[in-house]
Amino acid sequence: MSFLPKPHGGTLVQAFNPNYDVAHIEKELEIDAIALSDLELIGVGLFSPLTGFLGKADYQSVVDHIRLADQTIWSIPVTLPVSAETAATLAVGEEIKLIFQKEVYGVIKVAEWYEPDLDKEALEVYKTLELAHPGVKRLYERGPVYVAGEITLVKKQEKGVFADVWLEPKETRALFEEKGWKTVVGFQTRNPIHRAHEYIQKAALETVDGLFVNPLVGETKSDDIPADVRLKSYRVLLENYYPAERVQLGVYPAAMRYAGPREAIFHAIARKNFGCTHFIVGRDHAGVGNYYGTYDAQLIFSEFPEGELGIEPLFFEHSFYCHKCEGMASDKTCPHSHDDRVILSGTKVRELLRAGKMPPSTFSRKEVVEVLIEGLKEHQTV
Ligand code: ADX
Repeated sequence: MSFLPKPHGGTLVQAFNPNYDVAHIEKELEIDAIALSDLELIGVGLFSPLTGFLGKADYQSVVDHIRLADQTIWSIPVTLPVSAETAATLAVGEEIKLIFQKEVYGVIKVAEWYEPDLDKEALEVYKTLELAHPGVKRLYERGPVYVAGEITLVKKQEKGVFADVWLEPKETRALFEEKGWKTVVGFQTRNPIHRAHEYIQKAALETVDGLFVNPLVGETKSDDIPADVRLKSYRVLLENYYPAERVQLGVYPAAMRYAGPREAIFHAIARKNFGCTHFIVGRDHAGVGNYYGTYDAQLIFSEFPEGELGIEPLFFEHSFYCHKCEGMASDKTCPHSHDDRVILSGTKVRELLRAGKMPPSTFSRKEVVEVLIEGLKEHQTV
């Protein structure tokens, strides 16, 4: 008997078929890196119950109500944008090869296409129309028509340095079962793991059986630390400070949307599909700039009836090292003043690292910082 949650919508979608006959399909569509990632994640079931790119009814329902048309909770539109010229050539029912850098990765069977109301999508999903928001900027850049239809994944991306930690939902589910974990907490991050992250992960791990460290390695904004550098830092941190038998590292190969609260729900659903029972949501989850309130990404969970989401969020307050407490603490547990606390913004830390300077060990583990500085240097010289 399994203790893991059922995949979202009930069944783990499996739409990978490397033997699919693409030779008879003539039409091609060049897709971008985000669509490539979405295609693969639909194909391997990480975005279950989606079986393709969203049709109009689902899209509108997701934008308006945070639910698919059949009422399943879903918070981020997963869509395939094309130009108006391409849209003019489409026909319902036809199959199109999805191409990235001259290789066929998948096939879409065109069900329909439609013009989205991008302003509405921006306002509802990202809560702003400002192009300074990286998710909104990308939304307007990507194309004015969405093509919808079921997909078949015919080729998976090269995994490179991520190969051993690029686990599909069916694999993580099997792994968690094998380890005998009845409760597993998922942790999302697009950053190196700092002491505050470690603190909330370990606080969660005090009450559950296993921790699934699941860093996002899909597209991020250009000033975020590159995923290959972060990966090295995760490995060194886990080796030195985490109990191997209670922790599993695996990457989350989705694009970052920076959609704050909406993305927190999306992140939780993907982790449920991986087999997690719990999901950590801390301060300003998936936020960027000042577009969202510090705890908006926690508050959104209360908009859904208890239990419906099928994965339990674990909320954490803003955490930090406090010199008076002589340890990690949070607004909830530390009575001391701001001056006693080590709080550095992400931007500040990235600046320090790129300048080869060490943030204090109260902020980030020495082993992690060393790997990051070295990795960033290598990136700068490439
Ligand atoms: S995110 O965009 O992936 O959410 P980040 O990597 O900074 O950004 O955060 C990963 C997770 O840790 C999120 O759940 C976030 O809310 C939480 N978090 C980050 N920093 C802190 C902190 N200082 N205190 C509490 N939670 C935090």
